[in-house]
Amino acid sequence: MSANVIAIDGPAASGKSTVASHLARLLSIPYVNTGSMYRAVAYAVLENKVDCNDTEAMAELLDSIKLDYSADEEGNFSLSLNGRFLKDELVTPEVNAAVSHVAAVVAVREKLKTLQRSLAEKQRIVMEGRDIGSVVFPDARWKFFVTASPEVRAKRRLDQSKESYSSATLEEIAKSIAERDRIDSERPVAPLKQCEDAVLVDSSNMNVEETVAFIAERIR
Ligand code: DC
Repeated sequence: MSANVIAIDGPAASGKSTVASHLARLLSIPYVNTGSMYRAVAYAVLENKVDCNDTEAMAELLDSIKLDYSADEEGNFSLSLNGRFLKDELVTPEVNAAVSHVAAVVAVREKLKTLQRSLAEKQRIVMEGRDIGSVVFPDARWKFFVTASPEVRAKRRLDQSKESYSSATLEEIAKSIAERDRIDSERPVAPLKQCEDAVLVDSSNMNVEETVAFIAERIR
């Protein structure tokens, strides 16, 4: 199963989503951003006003939501929550603030791990996240850990999210990224960390094309 997977992990705003989606296009295979899955659950948590520390309420919520991947109106392989495709709803400041807490809930991780594994059963796939190489597919054929300096990451997030962050300063964004890194790295389950057998890709001084070329070369 894991022979199908190209795992791309790394911290928030490292540029890994852009790199992973370009790489998938280059290889003509589907791309799955697992951060979107955690964001979709965080969106459902907020919408239903569930306390993510309440185990019973979280179990009930997880039973009631259906996450799926299928072709959207534009033919892109996209995530839907209970039959509805979500895009902008997943990158609001509210979801940004809640998602790391939701991603630390064991039952959430278990549900999403099952979905992630099922997506790689029948097809080659680029899957991107925090724990794809370490936990979801520990025997993936290809593992990359994409990162960049904190300054570059804050700048990229500012450039990328002008709308949602219109009033935020670079300093505020850097602080929010650092806080998410802290929660993601310190959680007891599936923390963000580079696995020993992953290739480190420091993209601080590389643009998207250069980073994709670096990874594609190793795969070839
Ligand atoms: O990649 P992103 O910023 O969209 O991810 C959103 C959150 O989801 C992030 O705080 C960490 C969490 N996440 C995770 O815990 N495991 C993954 N495989 C992907 C994301």
